[in-house]
Amino acid sequence: MALQVWLDGRLVPEEEARVSVFDHGLLYGDGVFEGIRAYDGIVFRLKEHLDRLYNGARVIMLDIPLSQEEMTQAVLETIRANGLRDAYIRLVVTRGVGDLGLDPRKCPRASVFIIAAGIALYPEEVYINGLRLITCSVRRNSPDALDGSIKSLNYLNNIMAKMEAIRAGVPEGIMLTTDGYVAECTGDNIFLVRGERLITPPTSIGNLPGITRGAVMEIAARQGLEVREELFRLASVYTAEEVFVTGTAAEIVPVVEVDGRPVGAGKPGPVTKRLLDGFRELTKTDGEPIYP
Ligand SMILES: Cc1ncc(COP(=O)(O)O)c(C=O)c1O
Repeated sequence: MALQVWLDGRLVPEEEARVSVFDHGLLYGDGVFEGIRAYDGIVFRLKEHLDRLYNGARVIMLDIPLSQEEMTQAVLETIRANGLRDAYIRLVVTRGVGDLGLDPRKCPRASVFIIAAGIALYPEEVYINGLRLITCSVRRNSPDALDGSIKSLNYLNNIMAKMEAIRAGVPEGIMLTTDGYVAECTGDNIFLVRGERLITPPTSIGNLPGITRGAVMEIAARQGLEVREELFRLASVYTAEEVFVTGTAAEIVPVVEVDGRPVGAGKPGPVTKRLLDGFRELTKTDGEPIYP
């Protein structure tokens, strides 16, 4: 059955869900988006995702033509229209239709679309055996140029980094800041485990403040781990006891090798496992019910 896509206030079949070639989201990557997930009838941390979307829009001075409450309802309505309980939701707000110049004032109204689809899960094998990562030569955008805390439609540097990872035969890669600090991965945040301590780079260096990242930090604190946001370089990754990446699609994935060096014992570690168990527990209750 064709997906029903929410487009500017209406649910339309996917073949009719089209945006204009004059949309500045397409012409210039001018817009913001979210990737959200629903677990068994609950949209995980929808409020946090929408807070991030609306904050990003505020930074780029993009007026979203719906209140946050209306957007919440639009997301839920789209999932219901597709009869889903488990879903991956893509929510996009573009600057809208304008002329061929950069000037956003020529775009009178932002365009919004919401796609709720089945999820392409990482194979369970990845959680059991772990991921191999490389470090990409493409650097994360400097926040002086484009602040990575905005989930904008500009993903070209992440895509180029992803291509490097794929060419190296691995699904994900580490991106460094222009100063050589570990920032995050192409579509995931990164964590190190040392003893009873969890370390992740601060978002002020241009990382996305991941919703999964935030949840993991809370779970870790509840599990008695010390959580630190601090700058580190690759040597710290190579010598960590455990490494894992977090993201909406990935959840928490153990990393067993980085740049050809085994991480810790070269297999998924107990802290990562405990955090993943805690995270999966949290997804059962934390969020917006779709069918209340
Ligand atoms: C660059 C980047 N970092 C991190 C993440 C993880 O964020 P979240 O946990 O909110 O999915 C994403 C997810 O889309 C991302 O694109």
